[in-house]
Amino acid sequence: MTLRTPSPSRRALLGGAGLLAASFMVSVRSAAAQDARVRHASRIDALIARMTIEEKAGQLSLFNDPFRFRPQEVNPVDKDGDPARVADMIRKGQVGSLFNGVGAAGARTIQDIALKESRLGIPLLFAADVIHGLYTVFPVPLAEAAAWDAGLAERTARAAARESAASGIHQTYAPMVDVARDQRWGRVVEGAGEDVFLGSVLAAARVRGFQGPDLTAKNALLATPKHFAAYGAAEAGLDYNTTDMSEQRLRGVYLPPFKAGFDAGALSTMSAFNEVNGVPATGNGWLLTDILRDEWGFEGYVVSDYTSEEELIAHGFAEDGRDAARIALLAGVDMSMVSGLYNAHIPDLVAKGDVPMSVVDRSVRRVLNVKAALGLFDDPYKGSDPDAERREVNAPEHHALSREAARKSVVMLKNDGGVLPLPRSGKRIAVIGPASDDDVFGPWTIWGDRTKAVSLEAGLRAALAPGAALTFVRGSDPEAPIEGGIDAAVAAARSADVVILAVGESTPMSAEAQSRAEIVVPAPQQALAEAVKTAGKPTVVLLRTGRALALEGAIRDADAILVTWFLGSQHGPALADLLFGDHSPSGRLPVSFPHVSGQQPFHYDHKPTGRPADPAPPREEYRTQFREAPHSAAFPFGHGLGYGPVTYGATEVEASTLSWDGRIEISVEVSNVGVRPVEETVQLYVRDRVARLTRPVRELKGFRKVRLEPGQTRRVAFTLDRKTLEYMGPENRWTVEPGRFDVWLAPDAQSGVAAGFALVR
Ligand code: BGC
Repeated sequence: MTLRTPSPSRRALLGGAGLLAASFMVSVRSAAAQDARVRHASRIDALIARMTIEEKAGQLSLFNDPFRFRPQEVNPVDKDGDPARVADMIRKGQVGSLFNGVGAAGARTIQDIALKESRLGIPLLFAADVIHGLYTVFPVPLAEAAAWDAGLAERTARAAARESAASGIHQTYAPMVDVARDQRWGRVVEGAGEDVFLGSVLAAARVRGFQGPDLTAKNALLATPKHFAAYGAAEAGLDYNTTDMSEQRLRGVYLPPFKAGFDAGALSTMSAFNEVNGVPATGNGWLLTDILRDEWGFEGYVVSDYTSEEELIAHGFAEDGRDAARIALLAGVDMSMVSGLYNAHIPDLVAKGDVPMSVVDRSVRRVLNVKAALGLFDDPYKGSDPDAERREVNAPEHHALSREAARKSVVMLKNDGGVLPLPRSGKRIAVIGPASDDDVFGPWTIWGDRTKAVSLEAGLRAALAPGAALTFVRGSDPEAPIEGGIDAAVAAARSADVVILAVGESTPMSAEAQSRAEIVVPAPQQALAEAVKTAGKPTVVLLRTGRALALEGAIRDADAILVTWFLGSQHGPALADLLFGDHSPSGRLPVSFPHVSGQQPFHYDHKPTGRPADPAPPREEYRTQFREAPHSAAFPFGHGLGYGPVTYGATEVEASTLSWDGRIEISVEVSNVGVRPVEETVQLYVRDRVARLTRPVRELKGFRKVRLEPGQTRRVAFTLDRKTLEYMGPENRWTVEPGRFDVWLAPDAQSGVAAGFALVR
């Protein structure tokens, strides 16, 4: 059977629709939201005409919600977070939005202050960091990216939106769409990994999921693609650090996922902490106005990241708080998060003529427009419904979806000798290592309901026969040894038939501000693994991590490795589904796992250089490579195995040329030669052999998941056209020249034999 897919054109890439998204090219901007904005336009004009400059500054000021949450749990301490003080500010019109407070009843009470006790009664907007679920926790975004499934990402975002909106939240600070090519960076875990195409497809899917088809609907959540821009390119993977790059790289790699998110209808974005080529993103008019507004026509509002406008001072870009507010506002930051600088300085900045009133009014209009688009002028209590909250929060279908998503996010790196799946009975299993504990949510799960989470132990016990021989030995803490831990672990391994070695990172190791110099399993756990190996038992590694790691020794050499990331509420059952073979692993790496830490930053789509490394031994000198490691990944981007070997035929190209306005079909036969059904992810890679700017050795241009029954063969076909082949050219426009192209249909970014064609004008 031949599968045909729509062309992965540049429009598809930039428009945020992937090969998997059936609804691509269909604008998901909500008609109801547009209608609400139009209906309220004259009301917004009238409000702006009546507002004092202090009230205007207030609409542009956002603070932590001090009523329902102690925000210092996820951010630096907010010294101003006093409920009485903030209530008073709401009465005076000095606050337009609050964030990270959750709960329907509380939302109603707080909204009442704004509606009934402030002069103009403008509804507050409630935002929150709902990154991968609210009470029901879904896999961390990097894990979910490993499912390579836009539909799944859309569904989990929708479920998160339902729980959040019912809990009185209007906006989420997600999705994070920063392309992340340096695994030392702690925030890799929050995004979709290293690839532009996959990142763009998932950015659009997540926006569609959060916002739903109608932004005014009770269960819609305004999406905020962040952090604009290039935050993921921090030098040395050091959080908040400088980024500096060519305009082509910025536009060709870091901006497309944002564009995809905005084209999918996102009406807000967050300005990043970092500088870009010498100009901090939060004071960067070129990014925030020239590109975002003038080129892309973005109509939503820009919120600063937590005090990022105040940080213009530390950057050495602003003299003081007043100057920082001026620079940020003029650059295009509409709303200030937490610093209070807009309230403090906008009145004086306007009075002295340093910021035109028209600039302030424009930002106020953008914020009020979004409030209107969300339906807040029609229903200011939108979402503040405790009954809906009870229904939606931890709904059984959300937990079922969490289990499905967790299962699909796991990547099997190896399975030597077919050690997996494990039999359900007759084997004594020792589960060893700290990653067998309950730390399964990962970062940004402020409200995640731990009482509903199912641990690995509970998941395994539920899947095994009662009384099955299953022992748990922690052996080590994530970053420190436990006295006697190794001895206990080795003893347990000796008396077992198979060892499940659960090692890797803990949540605090993989989050904001948690950059790592060495991306390895910490030494105490590595020592545990080496000791357990001496027991000589078949070993399955469960690798908990929020980034790609360089695996070493007994962990790398284990019989099987499952990358389990942080899987969320249904971690345990999802892993049991895979370990005992009820489902075949189907995840694929969204980040390259390197041989050694020192290869960072590493991404599969690197340039060839003038002296490309020869991947095949013997090692030649004077090539682009390290002494200690090949210039390749240990486990490449796109890699992942299932419970059945899949073979690929040759990549077939229907003709030797692609005409300028034509299309060309590329296809391959894939066969499941195993005895269990599998889901294979066929990946389309392209290389532009000669161009006016050098091009990467391979670039992902499409992918397709196909189910293969045992013994089944399917032909999978993709269609390419000229647009698909475009790159960000020397004039900073998408471009392509006639010439030769290599093309692969392959199971990952490092394998397969290229076929080719020529693009002719
Ligand atoms: C993070 C943002 C987050 C914000 C609000 C910042 O530290 O960079 O991603 O949305 O805090 O919690």
